[in-house]
Amino acid sequence: MKPTLSQIVSESSRLVFFGGAGVSTESGIPDFRSEDGLYRMKYDVPPEVILSSDYFFSHTEEFYRFYRDKMLPLWAEPNAAHKKLAELEAEGKHIDIVTQNIDGLHQKAGSKRVFELHGSIHRNHCLRCGALYDATYIAQSKGIPRCSCGGLIKPDVVLYGEPLDGETVEGALDAISSADTVIVAGTSLTVYPAAGFLNAFRGRHLVLINRDATPIDGRCELVLHGKVGEILSAL
Ligand code: APR
Repeated sequence: MKPTLSQIVSESSRLVFFGGAGVSTESGIPDFRSEDGLYRMKYDVPPEVILSSDYFFSHTEEFYRFYRDKMLPLWAEPNAAHKKLAELEAEGKHIDIVTQNIDGLHQKAGSKRVFELHGSIHRNHCLRCGALYDATYIAQSKGIPRCSCGGLIKPDVVLYGEPLDGETVEGALDAISSADTVIVAGTSLTVYPAAGFLNAFRGRHLVLINRDATPIDGRCELVLHGKVGEILSAL
């Protein structure tokens, strides 16, 4: 008899929640590859090209026009998924969040142990002097955001063609390899190296919560196709 999600969660001592853009769609932020996803929208230049390191440096003004328009949902609030995870952590459950998202909603909900594999819109720094700027500064800037020293400001978001942050990767892999349960949610698992980190899992329960099928459905103990906010809030 398959265990239920709540049985798995309650018997787990070290949980990892491995999430993607589908965790934030119930907060009103479109994901990337669904029908209404960002990468399905028609642009002269494909968004995956705009969100690349080369394009950032070669077409900085166009990069920021797209980035301010599509990548800064500062109005978004944590949804039931973010809140339940933060609640479980506050109740003493050992939960590490490994997220591909850059929206900061897990922290906004109160989660403390968050590994942001692709960085965060809330951290931006001057490439010349290292000064830090928040997302509001970028959202309110015009044209190319400049530091008071005149340097170019860059978001601490992993653009296509850039490496992930070593410390974050180490922490995420350590969490996954020592977890007894990993819940994978709201991700198509199509982007590497992030998707490959799940190979570090050696624990007992691998759970998938995703609206659409993913490449790992076949090797999960429990597969729940539905809305992650609804499913987690029922815990
Ligand atoms: N509940 C559960 N699953 C959902 C929900 C929801 N409310 N909304 C969407 N999904 C699922 C979709 O079915 C889809 O499989 O979430 C998945 C989102 O997949 P993607 O749009 O590919 O997002 P993600 O996997 O996070 O993309 C990874 O791609 O461009 C890069 O850096 C970007 O971090 C991103 C990475």
